[in-house]
Amino acid sequence: MTLRKILCDDHPVLRAKTQEVKKINRGVLRLIDDMIETMKEASGVGLAANQVGVSKQILVASDGGESVIELINPRCELAEGEEVGVEGCLSIPGRYGEVPRAETVTVRGHNREGYEVCLRAEGLLARVLQHEMDHLEGLLFTDKALRMVDPEELQSEEEI
Ligand code: NI
Repeated sequence: MTLRKILCDDHPVLRAKTQEVKKINRGVLRLIDDMIETMKEASGVGLAANQVGVSKQILVASDGGESVIELINPRCELAEGEEVGVEGCLSIPGRYGEVPRAETVTVRGHNREGYEVCLRAEGLLARVLQHEMDHLEGLLFTDKALRMVDPEELQSEEEI
């Protein structure tokens, strides 16, 4: 596995809509493994392939625990409720904002074996999945943030 460089800010690859994965070959599997390692190394809870410069519909996500979800060609099938929460992004270091997201989402995609998977997520994982699917569309959280949050303000919130 290799750590990949995370693209930042308004890099054009971050702003382009990603391509559907047609075939899960060795390159795709290596990319997924590298994305997981890169996400963990950066202490992130999610990463989209275009954040490491590959314009393909692949995301990895974590609910903050040990297990990692990998999704190829993810689609949001159902989104319910709304919740405003603070988000950051590995591609926008040091900046945070309050972003409205659905409370629960049902997402369908394929796993690395090529099987279709469907998962229903809530809480942090639901937020991470929506954030990463936005990346795959070329969107960043700053596009949707209601307001940006001062990092100092964030620290005091986290301490509560
Ligand atoms: Ni991000």
